[in-house]
Amino acid sequence: MNKKTKATKKATPKKSNVFQSPKGMHDIFPADFVYVDKIEKEFKKISAAYGFERIETPIMENIHLFERGAGIASEVVSKQMFVVKTKSEDVLALRPEMTPGVMRAYLQSGASRSQIPGKYFYISPIFRYEQPQAGRFRQFNQAGFEILHSDDSAYDAQIILACYKMLEELKIKGISIKINSIGCKNCRPNYIKKLKNFYKDKTGKICRDCSRRLSENPLRLLDCKEEKCQPFKDSAPQSIDYLCGSCKHHFKSVLEFLDEVSVPYIIDSSLVRGLDYYSKTVFEIFTEDFSSALGGGGRYDYLSETIGGPKMPAVGAAMGVERIATVLKEKNINILVKNHFKVFLIYMGDEAKKKAFKIISDFYDAGIAVKESFSKESLKGQLRVADREKVEHVLILGQREVFEDTIILRNMITGNQENIPIKKIVNEVKKRIR
Ligand code: HAM
Repeated sequence: MNKKTKATKKATPKKSNVFQSPKGMHDIFPADFVYVDKIEKEFKKISAAYGFERIETPIMENIHLFERGAGIASEVVSKQMFVVKTKSEDVLALRPEMTPGVMRAYLQSGASRSQIPGKYFYISPIFRYEQPQAGRFRQFNQAGFEILHSDDSAYDAQIILACYKMLEELKIKGISIKINSIGCKNCRPNYIKKLKNFYKDKTGKICRDCSRRLSENPLRLLDCKEEKCQPFKDSAPQSIDYLCGSCKHHFKSVLEFLDEVSVPYIIDSSLVRGLDYYSKTVFEIFTEDFSSALGGGGRYDYLSETIGGPKMPAVGAAMGVERIATVLKEKNINILVKNHFKVFLIYMGDEAKKKAFKIISDFYDAGIAVKESFSKESLKGQLRVADREKVEHVLILGQREVFEDTIILRNMITGNQENIPIKKIVNEVKKRIR
């Protein structure tokens, strides 16, 4: 075999026989949970500060909830749902977002009669049948806020502020917020008419998807990423020029609240969002050097009625946990990891192993977590693990100590070593733990 063949052979990894995770769905190992946990912690802190309470809804819902909620022509519903056919008549879908489920739960439970507004947060798995790529998965987690049963513009601003503060707390730099208003039932039809008129004589020049959008969902014409459609987007009529008095006032007021707390924003007249339920305020949140949005949301004043409920205005946003985690990782944002293990127990021999088992249980009862390495019998192997874990206190239980009913307590920082009676060890360690 010549060198080249050898090298080629080495470079091609053997195809594994082990089952692989489904396409676009990933395992999260402890090293990544450091980021996920930090995001969850900050998110919960912000939620508590602004009075949001946690909600969870079933992972699957009746498919019509999403079809009616986000709209049958929306990308998320028409192309990205995992549909589950059941033996009964019902067709369920894995949730491609949380908003319709949260609204359904609010209406179904009767909370909509007593908790006004309903302020909820969630950190939940979401499923979208997308073509996987960087920052785009088929299973991911959203951290989101919803404020139900209020049309107050202060709440649009509060949702944006809460997202902004959370990203700031995570030390994410260069945050930018794009914001727009797409009007309400009264003023939007007129705007859409103007938009359609503008595009009418351009059907031969726009992409195939846009030709379809022109009849099915004209607002989405503004969202097209195709090169050939860009020039038209820039000169197309802008929704904010066609807002009715009430929508104009609402948008102005949202911006004033944001100014009040110095949250920076850019008005982006081509921002329309991909879900049909939005009205008035829409926004997306970005950070420098990361092309996909970290979060997005807006007002959805008609969702309740669309899914069979009464008139119930609402506003919300969701952020992608994996996208935020990627930014934290890529930007090397330091996450301080506190090792909650402060004690490691090393044993030598079978008798010591049994005693060690009991001692660890005594520590557990006293609220102290003790790390061990039961599968490694050799002293060297256990010491290596103890060293890697960087614990401050190591307990060593050899045959001699078992015989004398004592245990060695070694401080790994000072190198100090003491012999302590086993029955006193929990208390002695307690005194030394900072
Ligand atoms: P969305 O913009 O579709 O909005 O998703 C919100 C965030 O979820 C995105 O900004 C992104 O960070 C993350 N995300 C979306 N798709 C993926 C994916 N395939 N892989 C990884 N992350 C992804 C909603 O879902 C609305 N329900 C938000 C909302 C709440 N509006 C009102 N209330």
